[in-house]
Amino acid sequence: MRHLMSPLDFTPEELDRLFDLANDIESHPGKYAHTCDGRILATCFYEPSTRTRLSFESAMTRLGGRVIGFADAASSSASKGESVSDTIRVISGYADICAMRHPKEGAPMVAAEKSGIPVINAGDGGHQHPTQTLTDLLTIRSLKGRLGDFTIGLCGDLKFGRTVHSLINALIRYDNIRFVFISPEELRVPDYITDMLKEKGIPFQEVIRLENVMSQLDLLYMTRVQKERFFNEEDYVRLKDFYILNAGKMLLAKKDMLVLHPLPRVNEISVEVDSDPRAVYFKQAKYGVYVRMALILTLLELIP
Ligand code: CP
Repeated sequence: MRHLMSPLDFTPEELDRLFDLANDIESHPGKYAHTCDGRILATCFYEPSTRTRLSFESAMTRLGGRVIGFADAASSSASKGESVSDTIRVISGYADICAMRHPKEGAPMVAAEKSGIPVINAGDGGHQHPTQTLTDLLTIRSLKGRLGDFTIGLCGDLKFGRTVHSLINALIRYDNIRFVFISPEELRVPDYITDMLKEKGIPFQEVIRLENVMSQLDLLYMTRVQKERFFNEEDYVRLKDFYILNAGKMLLAKKDMLVLHPLPRVNEISVEVDSDPRAVYFKQAKYGVYVRMALILTLLELIP
């Protein structure tokens, strides 16, 4: 039985197969419409979500399966003090696979250790968000035609943004990637990541102003300042509008640069950018369904 805790749980070759499958599902959805008939996905979300939970539910439904679950801890027995370990033991008797989001780092890993069914980490605190990373990689591979040979700018909350941490870890396995980290001083990417990049000899640059590096980028990955991870409201208010990508800044970018964002967006991308063909964040959210369909089939060993 296989779980997904980190994007590194799959080798680059396995990821290629997963993305080929996701692209085939996109092109031939009918072929997969009954591959999960009789199977059940449990979505256990202890933290709010729109895309991750609903794209998992959409994915399982499009494969012919069914979904059970809860959308917040307050409506589950966690509110009565039940542990994640006990919950997953019980759910193992109700479902065939489980997607779990939890505010505590490592909680899905604790669940996986006690689980009788595959567990997918759907985001754990500020740690990892592997299915978002699979979505990001599929989007880049599908729209750029490659995973490698580019300069990627990651902008915004690089300290708390789990999507950023997962994506950096996944991208360092591809050739000729250069990172540009764009953040205020207080939200810099953690030292353990920059230390790891130095150790591996992977080039990176840390800057504060987006305008200064815009013209270098092949990809710009915008992120939201994570209100829920701040200890103090004052710091959040001071930093929340530090970056606003607008049409003026897009004029500085390459003609084929892509703008990605895991969403939800707050103010960091002006809505006027949505109509720019380089803005692919809504397409990216749709790729999230195809990649989760491919992931469910892979973990349940149901690939036709
Ligand atoms: N990208 C993402 O994880 O969105 P949700 O929080 O809405 O699931």
